[in-house]
Amino acid sequence: MAKYLEVYKCELCGNIVEVFHEGGAPLVCCHQEMVLQEEKTADTSAEKHVPYIEKIEGGFKVKIGEKQDHPMTEEHYIEWIEIIGDGKIYRQALKPGDKPEATFKIDAEKIIAREYCNIHGHWKNEN
Ligand SMILES: [Fe+2]
Repeated sequence: MAKYLEVYKCELCGNIVEVFHEGGAPLVCCHQEMVLQEEKTADTSAEKHVPYIEKIEGGFKVKIGEKQDHPMTEEHYIEWIEIIGDGKIYRQALKPGDKPEATFKIDAEKIIAREYCNIHGHWKNEN
């Protein structure tokens, strides 16, 4: 069963959805079950994907990754960066050519940061 804030992808058409209310039935697209995009937390590849969280005045900056930018080409890029904190969800959509980072004004002390790479999938970190 799809859980709150899980992200699912249709492997046929490429639709991606995030769950905002648990309905109890499997998510289906193009006549087949959508695939849960598990949140990975540790990189093994050369490009870094785990969101790097930096506390800034009035909020947080999230970069992909810490020392070296993740590619942002048409073929390989970060589609969005999202943070969850204090019961609020903020999402910055990105496109090829953008810098792989986002700034969020939020009062929360503890946040979860997530990002989605069009090739390497879903990643998560917490501060
Ligand atoms: Fe990637």
